[in-house]
Amino acid sequence: MPSVHPDIDFKPEMPRRLDHGIGIVGAGGVVNYAHLPAYHQAGFKVVGITDMDPSRAERTARDHKIPKVYASLDEMLADAEVEIVDVAVYPWETLKIGEQAVRAGKHILCQKPLSDEYGKAVRLVDMAKEAKLKMAVNQQMRWTVVIRGTRQLLTQGWLGEPTYGTIQVHCLTNWSMWPWMYQRKRLEVLNHSIHYIDSLRFLFGEPDRVFTSGSRMPKEPTEAETRTIAVWEYDSGLRLLIDVNHGVWQDDRYATFRFEGTGGIIKGTIGLMYNYPSGRPDTLEFMSMKSLGYWFSARNDYLWIPDAFMGPMGSLMRAIEDGSEPLTSGQDNLKTLQVVFAEYRSMEQGRAVSPKEITP
Ligand SMILES: NC(=O)c1ccc[n+]([C@@H]2O[C@H](COP(=O)([O-])OP(=O)(O)OC[C@H]3O[C@@H](n4cnc5c(N)ncnc54)[C@H](O)[C@@H]3O)[C@@H](O)[C@H]2O)c1
Repeated sequence: MPSVHPDIDFKPEMPRRLDHGIGIVGAGGVVNYAHLPAYHQAGFKVVGITDMDPSRAERTARDHKIPKVYASLDEMLADAEVEIVDVAVYPWETLKIGEQAVRAGKHILCQKPLSDEYGKAVRLVDMAKEAKLKMAVNQQMRWTVVIRGTRQLLTQGWLGEPTYGTIQVHCLTNWSMWPWMYQRKRLEVLNHSIHYIDSLRFLFGEPDRVFTSGSRMPKEPTEAETRTIAVWEYDSGLRLLIDVNHGVWQDDRYATFRFEGTGGIIKGTIGLMYNYPSGRPDTLEFMSMKSLGYWFSARNDYLWIPDAFMGPMGSLMRAIEDGSEPLTSGQDNLKTLQVVFAEYRSMEQGRAVSPKEITP
């Protein structure tokens, strides 16, 4: 029998107080199937909601028993009960709403991507910092079984020195859930692979160079990339691969990860991507030289949607309480965006790009 057992805790850290008032901007898909079920489960206090389409705000409030529907953002910001503004709108709208919220003295949680332009994201982060307000980004993949489990196994030394990693997702994405996304020039990396980019940074640190190739399915009615292959190089010798194709119509889809190190291997599946947005539980297996000859299997029903959505909001609340920084702070997210935009530059220029090249 294996002599040593890992100690993995999949549950997110919760705030000390559950009465931080949340005001939500945007009553779209993700708020309904992810934010609100997660907040309900955590016991967070949602005070009210607003949307540019009032009927959506009304319907969401009815479905989730939210006490107030505000006619405008200004009305929400004037409500002293709202301590945190949860921004879940189109990426090019986030800056404007975030700035207004900060001016009104509110802490903010912004959906990913924080912005469609690096310079705009820097502006909002700087503004929140100057106002001494807390800001987090909804990169909840860090709280999934796959990433939280791997992070703890890495920290506990089960993998040794990381040498190689892959995330490979070949799925069929229903873009009709996000018509606004499908019509723009940048799609896959900015909206989807950004989760893997943020998570891999969290696990392994900043890549020195990235090389990315993007394409789409033949005759696909979008100008944007829906399939990407990204190779990350680290001066240490570590190599990572993110390989994503959203157009697999055949019934043979997969979403896998594998991390190799000098002392072990961690591998498994990313459950959400087998059936978005319901998903299925992640799987995580690993072997380590600490217990030669055995594969460990860590199973848990904690889901990306909705459970992991407790993570970024809980972390923001902790930061407000302690004066610390949220795990996915705005400042940290700028580094994720630097990799995102380095990948686009790489696609455009056909060369490896250092994320440090990306400046406002
Ligand atoms: N973290 C994740 O895993 C995840 C998953 C899905 C979507 N998202 C992000 O969440 C955001 C919303 O996505 P969605 O799927 O809910 O889209 P959606 O189209 O279903 O909903 C967007 C909502 O925002 C409202 N809105 C847009 N601009 C507004 C403004 N200026 N003021 C008030 N309301 C406004 C729209 O009327 C709509 O109701 C996007 O930025 C998307 O990238 C993140």
